[in-house]
Amino acid sequence: MTSTDSSTIIIEPIREDHVEGFRDALDIVARERKYLIFLEAPPIEAMLAFVRDNIAARHPHMVAVADGKVVGWCDIRRGARDAEAHCGSLGMGIIPGYRDRGLGKRLITAALEAAKAAGLHRVELNARAENLRAITLYERVGFEHEGIARHAVKIDGRYFDSVKMALLFD
Ligand SMILES: CC(C)(COP(=O)(O)OP(=O)(O)OC[C@H]1O[C@@H](n2cnc3c(N)ncnc32)[C@H](O)[C@@H]1OP(=O)(O)O)[C@@H](O)C(=O)NCCC(=O)NCCS
Repeated sequence: MTSTDSSTIIIEPIREDHVEGFRDALDIVARERKYLIFLEAPPIEAMLAFVRDNIAARHPHMVAVADGKVVGWCDIRRGARDAEAHCGSLGMGIIPGYRDRGLGKRLITAALEAAKAAGLHRVELNARAENLRAITLYERVGFEHEGIARHAVKIDGRYFDSVKMALLFD
């Protein structure tokens, strides 16, 4: 646990100057090999293109910043095809030391508010079935279970199931 109180952590829409910090945070969480489908962060150029596209297309993308450092993110990408443009796909993560004190709830709530304001109707996600902390958070903010994708993830030669969850705005 760090000395930074969670109330002093700012949640804000991502900007280009956050990209390096966002990549560092994603890389840390990816290398834990327990939570994401990334096992390391993509190259900085790809991350910059991703963030620029999110900003230009107004895909909700929030970061949590503690003492100037990106410690978490939550992005919701709108579906690219016409008939799925009302759907968003959510991904998020927080680096170790900043978890388990409500920051995830603050981040996802901010991203969902932005998604609702952007006119999205449905937000969906996949979580590793054993990631009970993430699944509990998603349930708390209104996501419902829609099924299990069996062996959807393979890491170090082992298969893992994913839980499919979604939330519909009224
Ligand atoms: C998942 C993650 C975003 C959650 O954020 P967080 O700040 O740690 O979570 P919060 O404190 O906001 O909320 C977690 C909730 O899960 C509960 N919880 C924690 N561990 C749990 C467990 N093992 N089993 C069940 N519930 C658990 C907490 O009590 C809390 O619920 P509450 O608000 O009712 O008390 C964060 O822990 C993280 O980034 N983890 C690693 C990466 C990851 O899993 N990303 C998501 C991939 S789908």
